[in-house]
Amino acid sequence: MGKYEVPPLNYRYDALEPYIDAKTMEIHHAKHHQIYANGLNEALENINALTHKNYITSILSDLTTVPEPVRNAINFHGGGFDNHRLFWESMTPNGGGEPGGKLADEIKIYFGNFKELKETFSQTSLSIQGSGWGWLVYNQTYSRLEIKAMSDQTSPWTLRLIPILGLDVWEHAYYLKYQNRRADYIEAWWNVVNWAEIEERFLRVTT
Ligand SMILES: [Fe+2]
Repeated sequence: MGKYEVPPLNYRYDALEPYIDAKTMEIHHAKHHQIYANGLNEALENINALTHKNYITSILSDLTTVPEPVRNAINFHGGGFDNHRLFWESMTPNGGGEPGGKLADEIKIYFGNFKELKETFSQTSLSIQGSGWGWLVYNQTYSRLEIKAMSDQTSPWTLRLIPILGLDVWEHAYYLKYQNRRADYIEAWWNVVNWAEIEERFLRVTT
């Protein structure tokens, strides 16, 4: 794969205002994501694995094969790298609303309706103690959607669950604008969800 690099955003830092402020987006993307990229590259370098041919999620899916001295670092920084990559793509200035297509059909089956999914996802994300992510994932074993809380930067891939939609509830994602009001941040975030991208992501893993 070579060295991992933080991908550019395809919208401006202020594009998600007023829901997510420009300063938070800038620090989050340019500083925090960079730390995960650097940490991942360093950990891979330490085990001479920078030339590993598959993307990091293949390593995260089988962490037991990672040499013990760098396993935690790969889990943390590798998860952080991919989680944030997905996060940027999951948002758009023209976001919000509800998903359609096959994803909407599946949501009806497993959650009853979109409102129920939104409430369960929000509650799960709100209840995470300390830092972590709320996730809508696809469970390949049971061919179904699930909602999952993951702590710190641990990727759903470590449980072999495929990430569909993730919400970063680390304080670095909201503290400048929302301080301790994580619930307000979560409620605002639904207005920038890029459902077209999420629907595509879902189709890619289920077809
Ligand atoms: Fe983050």
